[in-house]
Amino acid sequence: MNKNMAGNNYDFAVSLKKVSKIFTTGDETVNILNEADLEIKKGDTFAVTGESGTGKSTLLHIIGTLLKPDSGQVGYFGNSNIYSFSDAGLARFRNKNIGFVFQFHYLLNEFSCLENVAMPLFIRKDPKDKALKTARDYLCEMGLENRLNFKPYMLSGGEQQRAAVARALVCSPEVILMDEPTGNLDPRHAEKLHSIIIDLNKKYGKTLVVVTHDKEFSNMMEHKIKITGGTIEHIN
Ligand SMILES: Nc1ncnc2c1ncn2[C@@H]1O[C@H](COP(=O)(O)OP(=O)(O)OP(=O)(O)O)[C@@H](O)[C@H]1O
Ligand SMILES: [Mg+2]
Repeated sequence: MNKNMAGNNYDFAVSLKKVSKIFTTGDETVNILNEADLEIKKGDTFAVTGESGTGKSTLLHIIGTLLKPDSGQVGYFGNSNIYSFSDAGLARFRNKNIGFVFQFHYLLNEFSCLENVAMPLFIRKDPKDKALKTARDYLCEMGLENRLNFKPYMLSGGEQQRAAVARALVCSPEVILMDEPTGNLDPRHAEKLHSIIIDLNKKYGKTLVVVTHDKEFSNMMEHKIKITGGTIEHIN
């Protein structure tokens, strides 16, 4: 185990300590997490399963530094409270360390597929030619070599999903968070993408947290969790 003087544990990629999240709209309250804990070690693979509305996307957004919990702490790589960073600091941290595939993938319609995938590299100020070449390589890996100059609205749902995966991977992040990354894909493309995702862990030791309803895919992960009554339950 690897600890610094403050006692922080560097073996963990992400840790959630007593994290709570409640949504309140008018008279309605939705209690998603209630002092929930979770420890994700570097190189771990997690499948997040469970029914619609149980809070899978909310949990992924909290882990992904995109949604601040009401209370509790989210730590990364030995830093015990990532949400103490400024917004700009968090954005830099995300760009460098986290690849996120959203459930509804948010590609930007005013840019081409290639530019969308290169965007995280532009943001970290890679030279333009190099960024475009790297983005092209990832899109080829996703079988989209003939769609480079298409705008996202010209792509099919599954093609958009594959482009979003390419965008999440392009900075080679340590932690990869995916929200139903193969939900829109036919079995052949889904299976291909499952093995690309699993290889990210097997070949490159990436930490994976993936929301999926696909039994076979979730069985490829080392850990399976679901959210029950505000806590995170391990189901294997
Ligand atoms: N910004 C918000 N404001 C109010 N309620 C919200 C908000 N975001 C999510 N919720 C509620 O929290 C619950 C969990 O939402 P979430 O999107 O995390 O579910 P999910 O498990 O990902 O579902 P699905 O499988 O359908 O994607 C839902 O009932 C939703 O209505
Ligand atoms: Mg969801």
